[in-house]
Amino acid sequence: MNTNSYLWGLLSLLLLFPKPSFQESYSPPPLPNTRLQNAFTALQAWKHAITADPKGFTSNWNGPAVCNYTGVYCAPAPDDPYFITVAGIDLNHAGISGSLPEELGLLTDLALFHINSNRFCGTLPASFRGLRLLYELDVSNNLFSGEFPSVVLCLPSLKFLDIRYNKFEGKIPSALFDLKLDALFINNNNFQSTFPKNLGNSTVSVIVLANNNLQGCLPRSIGKMAKTLNEIILMNTGLTACLPEEIGLLTKVTVFDVSYNNLVGTLPKSMGNMKSLEQLNVAHNKLSGVISDSICSLPRLENFTYSDNYFCAEAKSCLKLKDKDDRKNCIPYRPKQRSAEECKAFYSHPVDCSAFGCLPPPPPPPPPPPPPPPPPPPPPPPPPPPPPPPPPRSSPPPPPYYYHYP
Ligand SMILES: *[C@@H]1O[C@H](CO)[C@@H](O)[C@H](O)[C@H]1NC(C)=O
Ligand SMILES: *[C@@H]1O[C@H](CO)[C@@H](O)[C@H](O)[C@H]1NC(C)=O
Ligand SMILES: *[C@@H]1O[C@H](CO)[C@@H](O)[C@H](O)[C@H]1NC(C)=O
Repeated sequence: MNTNSYLWGLLSLLLLFPKPSFQESYSPPPLPNTRLQNAFTALQAWKHAITADPKGFTSNWNGPAVCNYTGVYCAPAPDDPYFITVAGIDLNHAGISGSLPEELGLLTDLALFHINSNRFCGTLPASFRGLRLLYELDVSNNLFSGEFPSVVLCLPSLKFLDIRYNKFEGKIPSALFDLKLDALFINNNNFQSTFPKNLGNSTVSVIVLANNNLQGCLPRSIGKMAKTLNEIILMNTGLTACLPEEIGLLTKVTVFDVSYNNLVGTLPKSMGNMKSLEQLNVAHNKLSGVISDSICSLPRLENFTYSDNYFCAEAKSCLKLKDKDDRKNCIPYRPKQRSAEECKAFYSHPVDCSAFGCLPPPPPPPPPPPPPPPPPPPPPPPPPPPPPPPPPRSSPPPPPYYYHYP
């Protein structure tokens, strides 16, 4: 049995057989076996590491019948269906205080581990590296802290990782984006690092990095996520510089949110290719220029929020969107805009996207010069490739509004 069929088996167990009757649907009935004995050790250690359980979720965690414990789900083991084993833990919204002991690594058949909305602190046990079947890990909305829990990088079956709303800090390891995940939520922590260049290696359909202090440019590799990406939320992540043209490759994305950052420059023309976009939020940045008809006419666009920027004009089609917010810009004929002085001051400093060192990527550093007296001098290294030429400007000159603020 592979992980997927195990997972689906487990899910159908959870749905079809309310506890505890599902146990009776299997024959032979669960016999004490080493896996359940190990689970007993693990769960008792966990119970001892719990300091408060206000709703009494663990009050029946007594005795060896671990499959009867509240929040513990058993299923036939994937490698040997005659063994019943612990396949899932679900203690969501239990409000439990405590920590996760190393003994939890004894739950080697665990496919689901959901403990969101509790008060667990500390970090994930290193022993989690033995959970070869772990598919969904949700520890969101707890009090976990310290470095990124890098043990998740060793879980070969992991598809769904949710560590949002904790107090994790420090760097986000770039290896996170090389995992074969479907969904990644790390928002609302205290991570501080630049946007990893390999962001685009990620296979996720949903990624939320919001409310961290990442800083830096949105990597151009993001274009590589075109095949899988549906939703990306980078609100309040410290993004700077200009948006890369490559975002136009994201033709399956329905939700794109880069609000509350320090983005500058214009919206890339390529955004007119993001034909699945429904929700677009670029508000609270320092974006400027014209909002083109190609964006506002995107066939599925419902909600386009671009307030609190320095846009100087918008296409007529923008005004027809179901839901849009264009306040606090520099659009002369629209209500609730910035003052003419503010706009004039802003437009007196032209934006140079290449000044940020991210667009285009720096060429590889030249090899070090050969040592001074080379007996037979090595052939000179080939010159670094010239930077790619800027995309051809097929667009007409900016409309007259631009010239209100020369
Ligand atoms: C689990 O609970 C059921 C129903 O309460 C009970 O019949 C069964 O004996 C329990 N299993 C064990 C091993 O205690
Ligand atoms: C991820 O991306 C980097 C550069 O962007 C590349 O060098 C690396 O090989 C990629 N890794 C995987 C696993 O695809
Ligand atoms: C449109 O998007 C903005 C920003 O994300 C949000 O605040 C607003 O509620 C949305 N409007 C609707 C009708 O969903």
